[in-house]
Amino acid sequence: MEFMAAAAFGLEGIVKQELLDLGFEAKAEQGGARFQADLTGAFLANLHLACADRVLLILGERKVTSFEELFEFVLSLPFEQHLPKDANFPVSGNCVRSQLMSVRDCQSITKKAIVERLKRKYKVGWFPETGNTYPITITIHRDMARVTLDTSGDALNKRGYRTWVGEAPLRETLAAAMVRLSEWTPEQMIYDPCCGTGTLLIEAAFLAQNRAPGLHRAFIMEQWHNSDRAACQALREEAKALYIKDAPLHIAGSDVDPEALSLCKKHLRQAGLADKITVQQMDLRDVRLNEPRVCFVTNPPYGERIGDQKKAALIAQDLGKLLKSHDQARLCAITADHSFERHARQRADKRRRLYNGRLECEFLVFENR
Ligand SMILES: C[S@@+](CC[C@H](N)C(=O)[O-])C[C@H]1O[C@@H](n2cnc3c(N)ncnc32)[C@H](O)[C@@H]1O
Repeated sequence: MEFMAAAAFGLEGIVKQELLDLGFEAKAEQGGARFQADLTGAFLANLHLACADRVLLILGERKVTSFEELFEFVLSLPFEQHLPKDANFPVSGNCVRSQLMSVRDCQSITKKAIVERLKRKYKVGWFPETGNTYPITITIHRDMARVTLDTSGDALNKRGYRTWVGEAPLRETLAAAMVRLSEWTPEQMIYDPCCGTGTLLIEAAFLAQNRAPGLHRAFIMEQWHNSDRAACQALREEAKALYIKDAPLHIAGSDVDPEALSLCKKHLRQAGLADKITVQQMDLRDVRLNEPRVCFVTNPPYGERIGDQKKAALIAQDLGKLLKSHDQARLCAITADHSFERHARQRADKRRRLYNGRLECEFLVFENR
């Protein structure tokens, strides 16, 4: 079967690499990375992928330019191979730059075509939808329709350690990608001087502990009649065995805001990291670490709102000073502020376009050589 590990724009290549590391053959494309597997393989991907949003089973793809074509296409797909008679199958949709632009109509035509297909196969006239859930999505992008079945359920960024989102928190998947892009290795210290609710610190810990991000949550596919529960359980046990709970962690952070810090401490507790990661209330101007080769990774305020720009410029300037005051340190920052380098008074050694939600950002890497 063919799957798509859906990912935010800019993270497709990282997700492809994660899939390769898991032993799949994978190909990156806009919106994610494609790979071949069986349902148990999809479970493995759900369990271990740190930077993907969802694992979707691709049921079919075809060019469609009319509602009739859409209906015929969906009708031709073998839903009975996946959906039992009592399946609950909500249909969501998404249309971009296509002749069929009404998402509601596309959803309802897709639903009708699935019902028609199942009626013919199961020889019944009514589906109660009282059983397990099989979420279907119809996406039409430049007239190319794709029907998928979501194997994840809750999006993969929901690891289970975050209960409240705080102000401008970073998505766990983007934080995990930033940690990987920073090229930090666990022997080094990683430090977030604007740690907010702690997402970057926790994702760094997961990487250092070799902890599968999905270890402590469930996936919707586990309830399905055709998933091999014993095989999934064995993969979960294997992931548990790989998790090095007492790995030494050189991870710390600080933030000027006491409220953000108390949320951060709550998240650290919920992630089982309260006694392993130190965070304190501190202005980033006061941060001094007696460690060589510190890797500062951070998501500072961008100043998108009028009036906040001056503050963001000062923070960029202070981050530049912080880097210069630490020998052989590296600073990795995600920012939507195009003047960040000017304010930090240093040109980035590396840059990469990333999206924080819908906001186009740059991930900048500065070295203090
Ligand atoms: C965009 S938020 C970071 C969110 C964080 N990555 C998370 O996942 O929750 C920016 C953080 O920078 C902090 N901050 C702003 N000015 C600061 C300063 N001068 N020193 C330290 N922290 C500061 C804010 O309190 C806020 O928590």
